[in-house]
Amino acid sequence: MKKIGIVTSGGDAPGMNAAIRALVRLSAWNNIETIGFLRGWEGIIKNNFINLDARAVSGILHLGGTILKTTRCLEFKTKEGLEKAAENLRSNNLDGLVVIGGDGSIRGAYELSRLTDVKIVALPASIDNDVYPSDETIGFDTAVNSALTEINKIRDTAISHERTFIVEVMGRKRGFLAVEVGLTAGAEVILVPEVEYDEDAVVEAIRKNARKGKNSSIIVIAEGVGKTTSLAEAIEKNVGVEVRVSVLGYVQRGGSPTARSRYLASIFAAKAIELLLDGKGGATIGIQKGQVTSTSLDESCRNEKPLNLELLRLAEKLAV
Ligand code: F6P
Repeated sequence: MKKIGIVTSGGDAPGMNAAIRALVRLSAWNNIETIGFLRGWEGIIKNNFINLDARAVSGILHLGGTILKTTRCLEFKTKEGLEKAAENLRSNNLDGLVVIGGDGSIRGAYELSRLTDVKIVALPASIDNDVYPSDETIGFDTAVNSALTEINKIRDTAISHERTFIVEVMGRKRGFLAVEVGLTAGAEVILVPEVEYDEDAVVEAIRKNARKGKNSSIIVIAEGVGKTTSLAEAIEKNVGVEVRVSVLGYVQRGGSPTARSRYLASIFAAKAIELLLDGKGGATIGIQKGQVTSTSLDESCRNEKPLNLELLRLAEKLAV
């Protein structure tokens, strides 16, 4: 293993820079040359890269986002795009490629791995926490804490004005963020894309709360559920309480990574370099029950990570 490429792809996640730093430093330690492709898959297709040495990654550990930039690249989804990318891995004499990103990026890594002998390893990094089979992705913990900080403030207003707040968190397809944020924020109701939306049940829950003397409530809803405005209207009309909507948006994607996100970035990177030094590729790194794992890219793509619905029931009991 003499030379590897690094690429960040899809939505940015706090800790991507920590992963880039760890990969570059561990490569330097093992006398491996590193280059970083710019703007995700687009950078590989256009052969746009920078040389990365140990000093090039100084001062980035604490920064959110990715110094390599990222895009959602449509061309990479085409046969021509994939072939161009595979050709550029060859023309740069790469022995390995580390892809840092969420489930879409891991799917991309798998598609590319079928067209090249270059060893490809993926590090799960996404605030959606949606990569199979890893218990956690780089950036998830930071996003949970960022959302929690905001909901703590919203709770102050909810209590003072005796209002119900509907707080929309990110998660277009998956509800991992909504569940963990909802549980830790003490939300009275949590709504996720994985569970069929039932407006009447939510209205009833808020009505019950009001009868019990709970004069304020927080509903955490994943953006993928998509009913935020109509739900607010339904609660106001049927329960007669004041409702406000707060969409947290991109504050959840940025910010300095927590210790946990930096820790995962470091141990995932170490496993990736270990595999590459052994001449192995075609793997997604992860963590399960505290142990760093390696799963084939194929298996990682073919399976959907299950959401623990027990946590929804726990949140419901805690909000009694
Ligand atoms: O990074 C994941 C995610 O935040 C999803 O939850 C969300 O649906 C999506 O990215 C939106 O990102 P963008 O606007 O960059 O496409």
